[in-house]
Amino acid sequence: MDFKLTEEQLAVKEAARDFAQNILKPGVIERDSKMIYPTEQVKMMGELGFLGMMVSPQYGGGGMDTISYVLAMEEISKVDNSCSVIMSVNNSLVAWGIETFGTEEQKAKYLPLIASGETIGSFCLSEPEAGSDATSQRTTAIDKGDYYLLNGTKNWITNGGSSKIHLVIAQTNVELGHRGINALIVESDWEGVAIGAKEDKLGIRSSDTHTILYNDVKVPKENRIGEEGFGFKFAMKVLNGGRIGIASQALGIASGAYELSVAYANERKAFGKPISQHQAIAFKIAQMATEIEAARMMVYRAAWLKDQHMDYGTAAAMCKYYASEVAMKHTVEAVQIHGGYGFVKEYHVERLMRDAKITQIYEGTSEIQQLVISRDILKNGNLYVPVMSNDMENV
Ligand code: CAA
Repeated sequence: MDFKLTEEQLAVKEAARDFAQNILKPGVIERDSKMIYPTEQVKMMGELGFLGMMVSPQYGGGGMDTISYVLAMEEISKVDNSCSVIMSVNNSLVAWGIETFGTEEQKAKYLPLIASGETIGSFCLSEPEAGSDATSQRTTAIDKGDYYLLNGTKNWITNGGSSKIHLVIAQTNVELGHRGINALIVESDWEGVAIGAKEDKLGIRSSDTHTILYNDVKVPKENRIGEEGFGFKFAMKVLNGGRIGIASQALGIASGAYELSVAYANERKAFGKPISQHQAIAFKIAQMATEIEAARMMVYRAAWLKDQHMDYGTAAAMCKYYASEVAMKHTVEAVQIHGGYGFVKEYHVERLMRDAKITQIYEGTSEIQQLVISRDILKNGNLYVPVMSNDMENV
């Protein structure tokens, strides 16, 4: 077992840290409080290669492994989680989904745009009445011969206001249940696409989350991903990788809060010595460090399994579940360590605490992750052993 990162992986981590600390940090408090979309910062992320990290170089991407992507996500999430969710949806849901399951034409047309940041992608699965229960899609894509007629409403769509490329999940044949669902690539400027108001959120406030309405949108058949009826499986497979992205975001949030807490605890004096010298604070730091390290091992392992083409769905659910719980728990502790200063925006930890909450909700709530994990364990007779695969089953 080798826990050493390669030179390339370390260089990616360093570049992401540098970008987060020097470029993202200076304006992050203002963007968060005024809900300002990070237009310039996203442009830079495209130029620096953070928006298409795993996309093959032939389509304008970095051709990197999932571990490198997770390392970059972790560093950026220590500082700006609006930027890191934009990055996560674009990389692990949209770009990876199109590259892995799309046709050559779809890849050539769309990947260079989203890998460069010329536009970004959004993943349109959730609906007003289909969140956790994702098979209950109300959006319809009726087969009209050489196109689908798309009608419906999608909710909570990250990148909803800025994205020009939507991956839309919709029901074509209701009698077939989830096997009658399709995944379609829709362009935002097509007739019938309307973007609702931007949501005013607890956390990740400068990312743009919108409702999107599709009204009689004609989607050419060549924009369907995979075979007829593959849309739900597509969404689930894409979300397996997405959950590693959100787990790395949660890991970054926890680590960011931890780094700030250690620095503060060494500086701040009470009762004649730095508060880090008081056992009440020292033990909090020890617990934070231990649980964050456990989360890190789980996230890196899930990324490694994906890179090895081994079964990683359950590992992804486990690391997303655990890392998001750790992020929530320890950002609350970080605010506590900072005392009154933790409660004001200037010290950053209150924002990280607000951002942590969404990691327990999107791309599958903690309860859905437990459902996924328990179903796999029980199906496999309580043996959790990932297997090597040479086919498409495990992607
Ligand atoms: N990987 C691969 N296949 C999967 C899978 C996974 N993780 N989960 C389910 N499937 C497959 C099943 O094998 C099954 O296929 P077969 O019928 O061929 O065997 C099919 O999908 C249906 O699965 P179930 O029978 O288990 O369906 P269910 O309704 O009982 O449960 C669910 C499905 C796991 C609860 C699923 O609906 C789910 O994951 N819900 C959460 C949805 C979610 O994560 N939403 C996030 C929104 S996107 C977002 O947040 C992005 C953003 O903007 C940040």
